[in-house]
Amino acid sequence: MERLVTSNLKLGIIAGGQLGKMLIQEASKWDIITYVLDNDQNCPAGSIASYFVKGDNLDFESVYQFGKMVDVLTFEMENINIEALKKLKTEGCKIVPDPEILELIQDKGLQKEFYKKSGIPTSPFKIYESEKAILNGIEKGEINFPFVQKLRRGGYDGRGVAVINDVSNLNKILPGESVVEEKVEIVKEISAIVARNKNGEIKCYPIVEMLFDPRANLVDKLICPSSITAEQSEKAVNFASEIIELLNMEGLLAVELFIDSKGDVIVNEVAPRPHNSGHHTIESIITSQFEQHLRAILNLPLGSTKIKLPSVMINILGAEGYEGAVIYEGLTESMAIDGVKIHLYGKQITKPYRKMGHITILSSTLECALKKAEKVKQLIRVKSWKENS
Ligand SMILES: Nc1ncnc2c1ncn2[C@@H]1O[C@H](COP(=O)(O)OP(=O)(O)OP(=O)(O)O)[C@@H](O)[C@H]1O
Ligand SMILES: [Mg+2]
Repeated sequence: MERLVTSNLKLGIIAGGQLGKMLIQEASKWDIITYVLDNDQNCPAGSIASYFVKGDNLDFESVYQFGKMVDVLTFEMENINIEALKKLKTEGCKIVPDPEILELIQDKGLQKEFYKKSGIPTSPFKIYESEKAILNGIEKGEINFPFVQKLRRGGYDGRGVAVINDVSNLNKILPGESVVEEKVEIVKEISAIVARNKNGEIKCYPIVEMLFDPRANLVDKLICPSSITAEQSEKAVNFASEIIELLNMEGLLAVELFIDSKGDVIVNEVAPRPHNSGHHTIESIITSQFEQHLRAILNLPLGSTKIKLPSVMINILGAEGYEGAVIYEGLTESMAIDGVKIHLYGKQITKPYRKMGHITILSSTLECALKKAEKVKQLIRVKSWKENS
C-alpha cells in the first residue's frame, strides 16, 4: 500500500517564501516532516520548516541533492532547475506536480501554444526571438498596436511584461525571447483555483475577482465571491478543470483569466502551486488552498471548496519611500475590527511594494467586508526605521 500521511513522511518544498510557509503550517497539522530549500535562511518558511537546506532553486546540484533527501517533492514557485527535477524523476523521486508540466508552464510561449492547441480561449499571440525581431515585426505590419510583450521565461509579479500602446512606448520593449499578445480590453481580472489528485478527482474554488486601485492601477483587493455572472463563472471553472485534466496534473493549479469588453472569458496564464489569489481560502473556505495542495499531491480525497463567509483579501505591501528593517503600523487597530485576520510573513526587510503579509476580512456580506477592508487599508503602514531620501 502506498504510504500517504504518516509521521515519517518527508515533504520537500522548493523555495521558502510565504507560500511555502503557509504550506508548512498546514503540513504540520498532519505531522508531516518538512524540508525547505532556499538561498536565504531568514526566508519566511525558514523558521518553521522541520529542516532548512540552503541552496539555489536554479542550481542543478542544490535541487538534485535536496530531492534526494525527501519522499515527496513539491514547489512554491516556478523558477526551478528543471534538469535536476527530470533527473530526480528518472531516479524514482516522487515530484508533484510533474516536472514536464512545470517545464511547459515555465515558458509562456509553450503555455500559449498549449492553450491554442487545446482550444482554450486566450489572446492571439506570436513568438519572437529577440527585441530586434519584435521591432522588425512591427515594421512589417505583423504586430499591431496596442500589444503586450511577455518574456518567455523568468517573469513574475508583472516583471517581464511590457504593455506597448503606441510607438512612444517602444523604449519599454524588453530584451529576450518573448510572446507578443494582442492587448485585451480587460473589464475584470479573475482567478480560478482548481485541484486534482492522482485518482482524477477535481475540485475548483469559487472564482476570485481582483479589484484595482484606479490611481496606481495595482491590484488593491481580492474579493470572493466575485461579481461576474453565473455563466461567466461556470466558464472559468470549466476552463480551469479542462486545463488541469488536459495536463493530467496532480496538485493545485491557479488559473488567471480575463473578462473582456464583450463579456468573454479568456485564459491569461496558470501557476501550478498555491497562489496569492487563494489566501482568503485559509479562513473563508472550508478547505484552504494549502491543505488542498497537500491533499492533491498526496492523493488524498480533496476537501470541500464551499464558502463559509464572503471575504476580501488585501496584500500588506511595503510603503513607498521605505527600505530597511520593517516596522508595522496599525496592526492593533486593525485587529480591533471584527473579522480581520492578519498574516505576517516574517520578512525582516521591507522594500516598496514588497509583499510583507496579507489580511483577510470576513463578514456576512461582501459589502460590509469591503467597508472594513477600506478602513484597514487606511490603518496599515509598512515602514522602516529609516526613510529613504
Ligand atoms: N494580453 C493582455 N492584454 C492586456 N493586459 C494584459 C495582457 N496580458 C497581461 N496583461 C496584464 O498584465 C498583468 C501581468 O501579466 P501576467 O499575469 O501574464 O504576468 P506575470 O508576470 O506572470 O504576473 P503575475 O506574477 O502578477 O501574475 C496581468 O495581470 C494583466 O493586468
Ligand atoms: Mg499573472
